[in-house]
Amino acid sequence: MKVLDAEFVQSFMRTANDGWLQGWHERNGGNLSYRIKPEEIEAVREELSPAEWRPIGTEVPALAKEYFLITGSGKYFRNVTLRPEDSFCIIELDDKGENYRICWGLVNGGRPTSELPAHLMNHEAKFLANGGKHRVIYHAHPANTIALTFVLPLTDEAFTRELWEMATECPVVFPDGIGVVPWMVPGGREIAVATSELMKSYDVAIWAHHGIFCSGADFDLTFGLMHTVEKSAEILVKVLSMTPHKRQTIEPEGFRQLAKDFGVNLPEKFLYDKHA
Ligand code: 13P
Ligand code: ZN
Repeated sequence: MKVLDAEFVQSFMRTANDGWLQGWHERNGGNLSYRIKPEEIEAVREELSPAEWRPIGTEVPALAKEYFLITGSGKYFRNVTLRPEDSFCIIELDDKGENYRICWGLVNGGRPTSELPAHLMNHEAKFLANGGKHRVIYHAHPANTIALTFVLPLTDEAFTRELWEMATECPVVFPDGIGVVPWMVPGGREIAVATSELMKSYDVAIWAHHGIFCSGADFDLTFGLMHTVEKSAEILVKVLSMTPHKRQTIEPEGFRQLAKDFGVNLPEKFLYDKHA
């Protein structure tokens, strides 16, 4: 089968284009990766031609020999559906999880996203935490969430609670909460380590003054998670634009009732008393 005809590649392209249409990917902003299933890579193997090994810039031993579909550095989400072979690639990891090689794509040269260490370390954190259920890591630059990183305290507790309050579905969509990484230089191992540490507990990590990382089992769930977080942030930006004080909101007791009825566990550390 041709790589571009494979369903996982079609879903990857649709997700990237959906993100572009949301306005989350100015210029080359954002990146997307997918851990390919063994049967999916077998189906397209005839089209693969491995190039030379290159260092990942970190080590992910649990992901040795895995294949990933991933956007290229400096490539525009705008172009993913228009020029797919130029915009993303399939990479294979070596048997130590220290090097990668491009097996398909990026036909005009280039390398995987500069956030490759963060993508792979997040994939590894999820792989070790939930036994390989998650396959998608998605990084975007949604404006409302970024705006909130200038006004809310940069804590997991503040972001989780404030975003939960803005839409009743939020605690059901991200019951584990949201992690926050303080401002750091992007693109290296250090920010990858900080993010993947948060990904052990959360499916969402916010990078202060930069963007969001989401993890999920498939493209729909991961995109839906990003969309839900950003929609909630948009509502909070609107509320804060009208008034610094909410007249009413969902109270901790409401979240506890919701947790019971929807069968989710909402950690008490996010249900702190704001009036104390
Ligand atoms: P890349 O073009 O290298 O993927 O970088 C975009 C980005 O969002 C960096 O955080
Ligand atoms: Zn970014």
